[in-house]
Amino acid sequence: MTELEQFAAPGSEWWRSAVIYQIYPRSFADASGDGIGDLPGVTSRLDSLQDLGIDAIWLSPFMTSPQKDAGYDVADYRDVDPLFGTLADFDTMLAAAHARGIRVIVDLVPNHSSDQHVWFQQALKAAPGSPERARYIFRDGKGENGEIPPNNWESVFGGGQWTRITEPDGTPGQWYLHIFDPSQPDFDWTNEEVREEFRGVLRFWLDRGVDGFRVDVAHGMIKADGLPDYTPPSESDSMGGGEDDVPYWGQEGVHDIYRDWHKVLAEYDGDRALCGEAWLPTLKKTALWVRPDEMHQTFNFPYMMTEWDAEKVRGVIRDSLEEFGKVGAPSTWVLSNHDVIRHASRLALTADSPQGDGIGPKSAGKPDEATGLARARAATTIMLALPGSSYLYQGEELGLPEAMEIPDEFRQDPTWFRTNGERYGRDGCRVPIPWEADAAAYGFNTTGDSWLPQPEEWSRFARDVEEADPASTLHMYKTLLGMRREFELGNGSLVWEDLGESAIAFRRGDVYVVANLGAEPLELGDDVTFITQSQRFDGTAVPTDHAAWYTKN
Ligand code: NOJ
Repeated sequence: MTELEQFAAPGSEWWRSAVIYQIYPRSFADASGDGIGDLPGVTSRLDSLQDLGIDAIWLSPFMTSPQKDAGYDVADYRDVDPLFGTLADFDTMLAAAHARGIRVIVDLVPNHSSDQHVWFQQALKAAPGSPERARYIFRDGKGENGEIPPNNWESVFGGGQWTRITEPDGTPGQWYLHIFDPSQPDFDWTNEEVREEFRGVLRFWLDRGVDGFRVDVAHGMIKADGLPDYTPPSESDSMGGGEDDVPYWGQEGVHDIYRDWHKVLAEYDGDRALCGEAWLPTLKKTALWVRPDEMHQTFNFPYMMTEWDAEKVRGVIRDSLEEFGKVGAPSTWVLSNHDVIRHASRLALTADSPQGDGIGPKSAGKPDEATGLARARAATTIMLALPGSSYLYQGEELGLPEAMEIPDEFRQDPTWFRTNGERYGRDGCRVPIPWEADAAAYGFNTTGDSWLPQPEEWSRFARDVEEADPASTLHMYKTLLGMRREFELGNGSLVWEDLGESAIAFRRGDVYVVANLGAEPLELGDDVTFITQSQRFDGTAVPTDHAAWYTKN
């Protein structure tokens, strides 16, 4: 490999280099004790996040919702669901985070609302062709009596994307589009009324003081004219499509919406930021989301989904820096979130598991825990040395594996129900996290209730246990975050080093970074001084699935 110097984008905005910690509120901390986490719970645990050393938090949705898709089905965009608290609890949490120097990003779900949203309820009562129906995507069915859905699109959660309604007079009626669950009707973003409504929603949260938004399904908001039939080449493409043009993913028109929102955010001080959730097949396409007048960041899902293979990881890092660099944006990096198998398990799977399918009692290819954890720690040691912004998902700092043995009767993900149990879905990465080994619900609350069962062996991963163990994953994260700050690794250039085919190796200023993905130990030579290691090893040879930061004498 030749030495190739690549530069992160210039600029000093906080989001270019921030480490952003994702809080999945229902599984983080539960102050009310009802088994579902809440905003007062978040506030009560902010000290531990400050201690961890992150720059910002992103909260998955806590707005009013019937919770058919864990809050990604919003019924009122301007209020907090009673499950999670009140607007006053939100304001308290925001102020407490800001007081600790932690910025706050909230989740915006603009592709679809809940079917309980007042607009959708009005649409059901109104006539075909009415302004109320025009806020969503209603169409007549095909066939003699309109009994065939308007097209063949398949829902991400399984089944079709269309549901037929009964008209107010009791007759079988029109169909409405939902990329996800039938309880999540898609808005029609060609309708100016929808656009104006969301400008208002953005301002509502910006006025309260949020630092930005994670934009859900940012690539799905515009559908191709005429809603033409489309059959995906394989199931694994369900959230983004392959190379071909998918009529409901990544349509050109979405970019106008972001340009419009960019202007709304620019009216506010403090570098407020938009981060797009856009599952796109290539980095070239992904980078279009962050051109200078559009979003500020977009998730790097190609990086997240790259398997544990040195050449592939090097390739995706190189392409990310190049493609994002071309548009002047920082790359983002992410290994886990609430939609995929936790990386402490995913990186050691021995069978393919498409994004969102999860892993459960009957799955093939279950990972070995020690291998998965070693790889996860090495992967994170690489990620936190990369220039740009990194996203962490709650619990990964504890090395939490996927919960793989959740009994069927506890499952809640619509994927499980819509596929009749064929795909386990995402519950395994959403289990409430452990804080104290010997407390009820591992300190998630004081009552012991938990909306998903917590595995018995999770006391090993509890924060207090890891706090007391200098070799723990928690200490590794704290060290990496502290050193990243000290050496200012969030910005700047990356120089590739050649340490062989099985290594990922690069230099960040004086800091050398290496991971060994090969079967044999990787000898570095005796002129190295280690700064930190993903797991402790002696000598100067990096063992398999280990990583390190070091300087050269
Ligand atoms: C992406 C979210 O991350 C996921 O959890 C949700 O189910 C879908 N969007 C639908 O909103």
